[in-house]
Amino acid sequence: MQLLTCENVNKTYGTGDTMITALNHINLTVNRGEFVAVVGASGSGKSTLLHLLGGVDRPSSGKILIEDTDIAKMSEEKLAVFRRRKVGLIYQFYNLIPTLDVRKNILLPMLLDGRQPDEERFAEIVKTLGLSDRLNHLPGQLSGGQQQRVAIGRALIYRPAILLADEPTGNLDRKNSEETVELLKLSNSRYQQTVLLITHDEKIALEADRILTIEDGKIISDEVVKR
Ligand SMILES: Nc1ncnc2c1ncn2[C@@H]1O[C@H](COP(=O)(O)OP(=O)(O)O)[C@@H](O)[C@H]1O
Ligand SMILES: [Mg+2]
Repeated sequence: MQLLTCENVNKTYGTGDTMITALNHINLTVNRGEFVAVVGASGSGKSTLLHLLGGVDRPSSGKILIEDTDIAKMSEEKLAVFRRRKVGLIYQFYNLIPTLDVRKNILLPMLLDGRQPDEERFAEIVKTLGLSDRLNHLPGQLSGGQQQRVAIGRALIYRPAILLADEPTGNLDRKNSEETVELLKLSNSRYQQTVLLITHDEKIALEADRILTIEDGKIISDEVVKR
């Protein structure tokens, strides 16, 4: 079942002489439950693609359908709600709120929505991520690997339609990188969570079901990983 479709998606930055084409006619379909790695040189358009899929930014032209809704056409208000409830974003530098403890950082999307925390989901995530004895700590009191686990928890709390991770292991050592990838894989296998993961690491890319290679804003290869 199709979860995500890009039709002729273009993204340009700037105008005239300084115009940059970051994405050039992207056509892409991702099914529910797929684990997709996105690879390509620096500046090829990987982060731009993730930002468009997550509703962080809008395409210059083209359609982006997520669960049959064209997010390129959504109003700002609707897009903000879509980002909070339907998208889990994970970055290289965690982007946690330094003044909030681990519990509040994980529950943040729900707190921002004025919703009651889903305690059952919260307990399950905390257990899976091994953060039970860190719930009252601030991000600054945690290791990099632990901070990234909090960011994964925050991304998963709403059972998002799609988990988007932009080089989430870029700042971690080998052991913490492997653990982070294992947790993303676990969310994929346990909850059929759809995941798009940008990585520079070939070994990590090979853990995915499928590898997309981007070059100069185009998808130049889209391959199933054979096991
Ligand atoms: N906000 C922006 N304004 C202008 N150019 C940008 C902006 N964001 C990205 N770009 C340009 O778009 C291209 C793709 O960038 P990006 O998607 O960040 O690549 P990657 O994540 O693959 O390194 C690059 O040429 C980059 O310089
Ligand atoms: Mg990038």
